[in-house]
Amino acid sequence: MNSFFRLLGYAKPYKGRLAWAVLAMVLYAVASALLALLIKDILDRVLPSGEGLRMMAAAIVLLSFVKGLGAYFSGYLMEDVGQRVVMNLRDRLYGHILGQSASFFARNTTGQLLSRVSNDVGQVQRAVSETAGDLLRESLALVGYAGVLFYYDARLALVCMTGAPLVVYPLIRLGQRIRRTARRSQEALEVMSHVGHETFSAHRIVKAFGAEERETARFRATLLNLYRTNMRVVRALSVLPPIMELLGGIGLALALWYGSREIASGRLTTGAFTSFVAALFLMYAPAKKLSRVNANLQQTIAAADRIFEMLDTHTEVSEAPNAPALPPFSSAIDFRDVSFGYEEAHPRAILRGISFTVPVGKMVAIVGRSGAGKTTLVNLLPRFFDVTAGAIHIDGRDLRDVSLKSLRAQIGMVTQETVLFDDTIANNIAYGTLTALPAEVEAVARAAHAHEFICAAPDGYQTRIGERGQKLSGGQRQRLAIARALLKNAPILILDEATSSLDAEAELLVQDALATLMLNRTSFVIAHRLSTIMRADAIVVLERGRIVEIGQHDDLLSRDGVYAALYKMQLLEPRRPENGVAVQ
Ligand SMILES: Nc1ncnc2c1ncn2[C@@H]1O[C@H](COP(=O)(O)OP(=O)(O)OP(=O)(O)O)[C@@H](O)[C@H]1O
Ligand SMILES: [Mg+2]
Repeated sequence: MNSFFRLLGYAKPYKGRLAWAVLAMVLYAVASALLALLIKDILDRVLPSGEGLRMMAAAIVLLSFVKGLGAYFSGYLMEDVGQRVVMNLRDRLYGHILGQSASFFARNTTGQLLSRVSNDVGQVQRAVSETAGDLLRESLALVGYAGVLFYYDARLALVCMTGAPLVVYPLIRLGQRIRRTARRSQEALEVMSHVGHETFSAHRIVKAFGAEERETARFRATLLNLYRTNMRVVRALSVLPPIMELLGGIGLALALWYGSREIASGRLTTGAFTSFVAALFLMYAPAKKLSRVNANLQQTIAAADRIFEMLDTHTEVSEAPNAPALPPFSSAIDFRDVSFGYEEAHPRAILRGISFTVPVGKMVAIVGRSGAGKTTLVNLLPRFFDVTAGAIHIDGRDLRDVSLKSLRAQIGMVTQETVLFDDTIANNIAYGTLTALPAEVEAVARAAHAHEFICAAPDGYQTRIGERGQKLSGGQRQRLAIARALLKNAPILILDEATSSLDAEAELLVQDALATLMLNRTSFVIAHRLSTIMRADAIVVLERGRIVEIGQHDDLLSRDGVYAALYKMQLLEPRRPENGVAVQ
């Protein structure tokens, strides 16, 4: 129920619209009741004597028009409020999810998150527009018709309604059941969305490993589960119409039995009785709608619960309140006894006791075996994760004490996995610097040796590169990522295997560009290539999350330790074998 009230909070800004909607509903209810009242006059007065026929006809048309007007405006305005609430809810949810930490995204899959944003919020929308509107409009109509019943014969009205309380308990029980099953149904939808998203985006691997049938079967299993849970909801909902039908029948039978006696004894005219029965009939439609309101409400609450659970999840990398901006980097970056583990629940230290200092303008190479913790180490700098112990200082300030925006603005990054967007080449390069001029974009593209292939593309810089840049080769993607980092022109540069997908020639050229770029910058470079490493001012050698050696190439080699071992095993490649085939 709590979720319901929170949801109502989202409708608050639209109080004005809601007030107009309620007014329209009142019109609708009054016109409906008046139409029912007219029946007596028609039967008792207009039909026998023909008196006031025109007036009556005009009144019927007018009231029907007013009723239609009320229905139109209340329906339109309620739908409008529903759509706006949903728009705001989606907007909030999307922003909230995007703000979460990397560990949050490791726990929740893209398909699941998308399902929350689209399906759960969609469920809420259907319910808000329909349920809230129905609840008010039909309740008012019901009150109007009940007014007519009581106006003609209060005792008869009471007799007809004796059955009504009997239906309340089953409706409430049914509501509870519907809430539970609706939640399961939303969960099943989430699983389906996850499986679909995963296999579509991995379509090549699915095909290469001949797993189409297995994946189709996996998807079918989620469909079957969705069908079953949906049918559980349907089964619960299908009980409603027969219950209402029966109740209507009982009311009518009672009215007939009691009414015929009243007419016989002359206490009731046939016209009044017919009008009464007509009102009773007319009550059926709103009563049926109202009986569904609780069920709909429960479905809404189930979906709203899931939305608010997500909105209440806070894993954002926290920013100190009123954190000051980080001044332009000027002196040194200092890792002080840094330890880090990914999982809070069962901490396995990925990094332990990392301490080193990088003065401004210097280049550090980080080397180590696969899985040693190199990527993890550099990810701590833009605070994708926070250290579990120790601290990282920039110019003597703890990273956690400055604003995230100002920190990240000073860091340029080429990540190990190239990430591009389904947009034009120019927009991908200018991703972090939307105000860049075309000439600037071209200059960095030239520096990253991307200009040639871009010119050969069908629309040059305006060529769209497909989802995740899949219309480009691995090396081309990497060059765009380098150009993007170059354009950002940040004082601190992180290059994580930035040239790993390039062939020897392209790499040599790009290295050149990177070397120029790094001249005036402080850079953290993760590489296997000796040519890159040898240029570094310091080499940090990581092994299982610890710094085992630190120094320069010759110095480390003569120590005959881990670095020398890596060198001998050719994990630090002197030269890249061309086309991936080793040349003897
Ligand atoms: N999101 C994550 N959650 C849990 N563990 C992780 C996560 N990312 C990496 N790890 C673990 O942390 C360790 C270090 O990973 P990291 O990516 O830093 O290695 P690396 O030195 O960059 O290796 P490579 O040279 O292969 O890129 C690995 O053992 C890996 O299993
Ligand atoms: Mg890595």
